[in-house]
Amino acid sequence: MKSIHSKTVWLSIWGVIIFASMLFASCEGPAGKDGLAGKDGTDGKDGADGTQNCGTCHDASTDLFAKQLQWAASQHAVGTNFERSGTSCAPCHTSEGFREVAETGLTTTAAAINNPSGQNCRTCHKIHETHTDADWALTYTGTTKLQFTKTEIDLGKGSLCGQCHQARPLAAMVDLTAENYEVKVRFGPHHSSAANMFAGSGAFEIPGTEAYGSTAAHQNIQNACVNCHMGPAYGVQAGGHSLKMTYEYSGKIVDNVAVCTPCHSSATSFDVNSVQEEVLGLIIELRGKLADLGMLKKDASDNPSDFHSDAAIPGVYSSLNAAVLYNYLYLVNDKSWGVHNPKYTRAVVKNSLQALN
Ligand code: HEC
Ligand code: HEC
Ligand code: HEC
Ligand code: HEC
Ligand code: HEC
Ligand code: HEC
Repeated sequence: MKSIHSKTVWLSIWGVIIFASMLFASCEGPAGKDGLAGKDGTDGKDGADGTQNCGTCHDASTDLFAKQLQWAASQHAVGTNFERSGTSCAPCHTSEGFREVAETGLTTTAAAINNPSGQNCRTCHKIHETHTDADWALTYTGTTKLQFTKTEIDLGKGSLCGQCHQARPLAAMVDLTAENYEVKVRFGPHHSSAANMFAGSGAFEIPGTEAYGSTAAHQNIQNACVNCHMGPAYGVQAGGHSLKMTYEYSGKIVDNVAVCTPCHSSATSFDVNSVQEEVLGLIIELRGKLADLGMLKKDASDNPSDFHSDAAIPGVYSSLNAAVLYNYLYLVNDKSWGVHNPKYTRAVVKNSLQALN
């Protein structure tokens, strides 16, 4: 009985000890004081503020907007045929193609452009590359490399224009020492020969009474194309990013001579010294003769704006006549009727006519 009793006592004592130790283990005392703070680490670099520079361009002013409006009225915006995105057309007809060849210096793109875009601000400016004013820099700043003559000319900012506004090379050159030449479909310089004309090269220089030379004063105009085609904007009709040279006023087409008068102070039209009238008359004569020879398909209109859709009729002709036909297409695709290079234009048209006579 006694032993049972003392066993119970011992068990009770052990029970109390276990219970107490469990109680102590689960019940922490109050936290001690914080230790001293360690030294600060060095700060990391601030990331760029994503939007701090946006206002350089996207602000309350209408500077950017005005240029967007001018550009939207340009032939660059409404035309450009940018579905022509194959490797040989993309460099001049798509934005992506132009940017690619501006980098590679080639005349074709590596592959056809998928999802092409037509010409836009990013074609000529480095938009959204650094998000600063530096993004207005032009995407092409080299010289204009003329593919037809394999020569180059420095047109300042206009060199960018010249990269596209130039003759495409012929698959087979006309050789004036050979008797005949086979004119194939789409013969000619393609749709713009402005840079070639401006440079005073790229026509077949058939000998004649008029000496070949260039109007150096025009070649010396700073930034060439840009100076005349991007003069002070007249609304969205001329100048600025419309690139147009004429505008309509009270139902009449007016020449934007503001870009000529610094040098030709009395000019009231582009027809300075009646040079355009003379050149146009000679071009119309040449056009009629080529059509009579069965070499040129032309429509009946004598409106100069219709001349650039004239087309060569394929066939085998004398090399001399083929060269004259090329020169005609070169003259009409320049579209300035003498202004780009008065001297060279006169020589090409006069000597070409003489060759046919
Ligand atoms: C150097 C001038 C410039 C700066 C700086 C600039 N932008 Fe633009 N932004 C443009 C031009 C130019 C366009 C194209 C307008 C057009 O196509 O008509 C454009 C277009 C846009 C568009 C329309 C969609 C698109 O991509 O065409 C958005 C959105 C835009 N910018 C946001 C921004 C933001 C955000 C910033 C700052 C991080 C910024 N831009 C900085 C010039 C600038
Ligand atoms: C990426 C090639 C490219 C560049 C760069 C370029 N152009 Fe053009 N330009 C074209 C094409 C293509 C057209 C024809 C659009 C159409 O009618 O489909 C054109 C049309 C024009 C026209 C209208 C011609 C007409 O018959 O109505 C003028 C003027 C012109 N460009 C001037 C310029 C000037 C000036 C520059 C330089 C500031 C320039 N272009 C830069 C490709 C270019
Ligand atoms: C070296 C640059 C260049 C290349 C390469 C080029 N083009 Fe063009 N093309 C132009 C220019 C510049 C114009 C606009 C000239 C103008 O209107 O004064 C133009 C105009 C055109 C036009 C419009 C004609 C019109 O009057 O509406 C067509 C169509 C065209 N090109 C098709 C092509 C095709 C197809 C290819 C490829 C096989 C091609 N181009 C390659 C520069 C080029
Ligand atoms: C065909 C090429 C071309 C295209 C496309 C073009 N620009 Fe330009 N832009 C130029 C050239 C060349 C200049 C320089 C003009 C000068 O020096 O007088 C210029 C100048 C500018 C300037 C003045 C830049 C400065 O340094 O202050 C602005 C702003 C501008 N362009 C905006 C635009 C916008 C916006 C678009 C699209 C809607 C656009 N440009 C499309 C060729 C182009
Ligand atoms: C001396 C000023 C001047 C210079 C420099 C100049 N142009 Fe022109 N350009 C003109 C004039 C003026 C016309 C229009 C003639 C007319 O309509 O009677 C014209 C017409 C054009 C046309 C046809 C436009 C149309 O609507 O039919 C194109 C394309 C063109 N020029 C591109 C260029 C290119 C590219 C350059 C640089 C290589 C250039 N121009 C340099 C004055 C100039
Ligand atoms: C930087 C000055 C300058 C600018 C700008 C200029 N020209 Fe000239 N231009 C000249 C000079 C100088 C001559 C004479 C060169 C000579 O006789 O060899 C000339 C010659 C000409 C000729 C030939 C005249 C003749 O009798 O043979 C025509 C046409 C012409 N310019 C038209 C224009 C037109 C149109 C513009 C504006 C779209 C223009 N020029 C802009 C300086 C300029």
